Amino acid sequence: MATNRLKNKKKSQPLIIAIAGAKGGVGKSMACSNIAIQFAQGGLKTTLLDLDLGAANQHTLLGISRSSKGWTQFLSDPSMDLSSFEVETKQKHLGLLAACGYRPDIAEISHDVQSSLMTQIRNLNSDIVLMDLGAGSHKSTLDFFTAADIKTLVTTTESTSLLNNFEFLKNVLYQSFCRAAHSYPKILDLIYQYKANPTLRLNQLIDKVESVDPFFAQMLTNICASLDVNVIFNQVRKVNEVHMAVRLKKIVQKQLSLDLSYPGFIFFSEEVVASMQKQLPISYISPRSIITQIFKRITQLLLKKSLYKETSKQAISWEQIQQDFHKNRVERKKAHHLL
Ligand SMILES: Nc1ncnc2c1ncn2[C@@H]1O[C@H](COP(=O)(O)OP(=O)(O)O)[C@@H](O)[C@H]1O
Ligand SMILES: [Mg+2]
Repeated sequence: MATNRLKNKKKSQPLIIAIAGAKGGVGKSMACSNIAIQFAQGGLKTTLLDLDLGAANQHTLLGISRSSKGWTQFLSDPSMDLSSFEVETKQKHLGLLAACGYRPDIAEISHDVQSSLMTQIRNLNSDIVLMDLGAGSHKSTLDFFTAADIKTLVTTTESTSLLNNFEFLKNVLYQSFCRAAHSYPKILDLIYQYKANPTLRLNQLIDKVESVDPFFAQMLTNICASLDVNVIFNQVRKVNEVHMAVRLKKIVQKQLSLDLSYPGFIFFSEEVVASMQKQLPISYISPRSIITQIFKRITQLLLKKSLYKETSKQAISWEQIQQDFHKNRVERKKAHHLL
C-alpha cells in the first residue's frame, strides 16, 4: 500500500515501541510478533528486535532457523552495524533482529553497550522498531521501556501477573525519579526511603519532596503525568475478567498517579496455540480471524495515539494515519537531536 511512497523517503527516526510485561509466559512475544506483522501488512517497514536475552524465541515464532544470524554478537563489539544482523522474514516489510546464538557469558548489558544499542536502534532504517523485552524488572529492561516512544505492557488477568506489572511500573517510576534527582542528594535520599518502604504511597513521597523543594515535586508529578502506558490483557477466558482491568486502572491511578490505556483485549484461543506450533503468527496464518482483527485495531490505536494526543476517539482512516505518521517521523528526528 504505502510502500512505494516509503522507498524514496529520506531517513528519519523510527517509531520505537516496547512490548514488556513483568511475568513470563503471558504472551509478550506472541503479541509482539502479531503487532509487527500488522505494521508490515499496513505497508510500514518494520523491524522486530528480540531483546529477551534470557528466553529469546522470536526466530521460532516467525519460523526462522535457529542457525540464522543473531544481533547478540553486537554485545561483544558495539562498533558493529546493528542493521547488518537483520534477517528477512516470511512477511513482506518485516525484518527480524533475532537473539539466537546468544552467548550466556554476557549476563547483563553494560551501560555503554546499552547506549550504543539505543543509538543504533534510533538510526535503523525502518518506520517502526518493536522491542520484545524480557520478563522481570532488570535495569536494562526498564531503560529500554522508558526510552521507547510507545510503552506497552502485556498481562493476563491472573493476580501474579497483575502484581508483577504493578511492581514493574513502580520500578519504572523509581528509576525515572532517581535519574531526575541524580545530582540532588536530599531528594535522592527521600526516593530511596520510598523504595525501601513498600507501604509508602507515591503521593506521600511527592508531599515529602514538596516540603524540601516544591519545584522538584512538580517535576516528579510531571514525570507521572507524561508516562503513557498501554496495557494489553491477553489470554482472557471470560468477559467478567475484564473487571480486573478496571481495578488495575484504579489502583495504578491511586497509588502511582499513572493513567493506563487499554488498546485491546485478547482472549484465550486454541488458534493462537496452533499458530505458535506452526511457527507463524496468527495474523499471518489467519488474517480474517477475530484475534487478527483485534491485533489490527491495537496496531492502529497505538499508531494513532503516537500522533493525535486528544483525538483518539475520532474516526481516522489507516491511510490518513500513515500519512501523518511520516510527517511526524521527521519531527521526531529533529526533537531527538535537540535532547
Ligand atoms: N491468546 C492466547 N491464547 C492461547 N494461548 C496463548 C495466548 N497467548 C499466549 N498463549 C500461550 O502462552 C505461551 C507463552 O507465550 P509467549 O508469547 O511466549 O509469552 P512471553 O513472551 O510473555 O513469555 C505460548 O506458547 C502460547 O501457547
Ligand atoms: Mg517472550
